[in-house]
Amino acid sequence: MKTKVLVTGANGQLGKTLASLKTKFKNLDFIFASTLDLDITKSNQVETFFYTNKIDWCINCAAYTAVDKAEKEPEKAKKVNVLGVKNLALVCANKNVALIQISTDFVFNGEKSVAYTEKDTTKPTGVYGTTKLEGEIEIIKKLEKYFIIRTSWLYSQNGNNFMKTMIKLSKERKKINVVSDQIGTPTYTTDLAEIMLKIITTNNKQYGTYHYSNEGVASWYDFAKAIFEESNIDINVLPIKSEAYPTPAKRPHFSVLDKTKIKTNLKIEIPHWRVSLRKAIANNNE
Ligand SMILES: NC(=O)c1ccc[n+]([C@@H]2O[C@H](COP(=O)([O-])OP(=O)(O)OC[C@H]3O[C@@H](n4cnc5c(N)ncnc54)[C@H](OP(=O)(O)O)[C@@H]3O)[C@@H](O)[C@H]2O)c1
Repeated sequence: MKTKVLVTGANGQLGKTLASLKTKFKNLDFIFASTLDLDITKSNQVETFFYTNKIDWCINCAAYTAVDKAEKEPEKAKKVNVLGVKNLALVCANKNVALIQISTDFVFNGEKSVAYTEKDTTKPTGVYGTTKLEGEIEIIKKLEKYFIIRTSWLYSQNGNNFMKTMIKLSKERKKINVVSDQIGTPTYTTDLAEIMLKIITTNNKQYGTYHYSNEGVASWYDFAKAIFEESNIDINVLPIKSEAYPTPAKRPHFSVLDKTKIKTNLKIEIPHWRVSLRKAIANNNE
């Protein structure tokens, strides 16, 4: 019998990436649920969904992801990222379903200067990171069969993200200012999605919290320059300091993730962000 995988938040960029890979994973039987099909904040709906469908694994791509807006509407962010995740954790525990939850580098304050490991102290600086961390805690309290994967700087040909914003802006402007003092690692959603599906197809039982991003280190400025180079777009990119581009939510200055644990446990090699960016640009037809 095929392994049944529920993907929540299926209309987001990671959900859409998983959908694009479904034909590659023929031994998996997917249910892709958008907010309309399954609102994770509604506990009755979540329970009914899991009782109606026989699910083996749930990949939770549903989240409140508007980092700056969250500062103004913390209750909304909390509802999805904490209550919604709690609802999923409870039903997964009751129905013996393994849960893969995506979390974020924003659980750290970014004050380190070497890559963050899973054992590092969490200290989010804004509402979004705080609610994502609280979601992690709900899962750890309620479930044994879980993978929490913290990732960073997601981009893809699907949905809204930095790569697509830069390409769009280049059509409207001759010059773009990009912050150069926030350091992290871009992550191509296809690479992340393939890792999650590998966890499922190998029926991995090394449950716990993991870090995953592409390899390498970049600033947003480096990332923007690389996007234009790979796309053959000739535009003037200027580095600026975060202070020159104030945002409601404070971003970590450094959020490189140490991937030793996931590489060792899953016996994988992770592509460098620049190599994956090339693939993403080639797959982007906008
Ligand atoms: N994007 C990044 O750079 C980044 C970095 C690190 C970690 N992450 C994490 O990675 C995961 C995937 O991110 P993403 O970029 O794919 O986000 P995204 O494009 O914003 O997608 C999130 C999806 O969740 C859905 N959703 C919101 N509230 C929901 C609810 N109550 N019930 C069901 N679905 C709901 C949204 O649907 P609607 O459109 O209908 O609201 C949307 O389709 C998230 O957990 C995020 O926190 C993202």
